[in-house]
Amino acid sequence: MAWTTLCELNELEEGRGKYVEIGGFQLAVVLSQGQVHVTDNVCPHAGGNLSEGHVDNGCIVCPWHSWPFELVTGQLRGAPGVAIRIYKTRKIQPEGRSALIQADLPIF
Ligand code: FES
Repeated sequence: MAWTTLCELNELEEGRGKYVEIGGFQLAVVLSQGQVHVTDNVCPHAGGNLSEGHVDNGCIVCPWHSWPFELVTGQLRGAPGVAIRIYKTRKIQPEGRSALIQADLPIF
């Protein structure tokens, strides 16, 4: 596992996702109520692009058929057997620069 910088905090928009591809991972970086969450980008239903979804009540909602995945657990709401992968996330503040978003990815 390695903490990997994905983007700057100021690239994120509240209630929306941002697509990041790094180290062979396709990720959705989502800002929800000031908290940053990182999940796999591909929806397990039919491959929808979760980073283009929106946040609703703590879930990232797939833009294709509206499946809602809990940002904290990755579980599909109301269907505990279905989940997306989530990654530990942190925000670091380098001196004199804007805050960076990192995820703990199983790479490198
Ligand atoms: S592809 Fe995501 S809900 Fe269908």
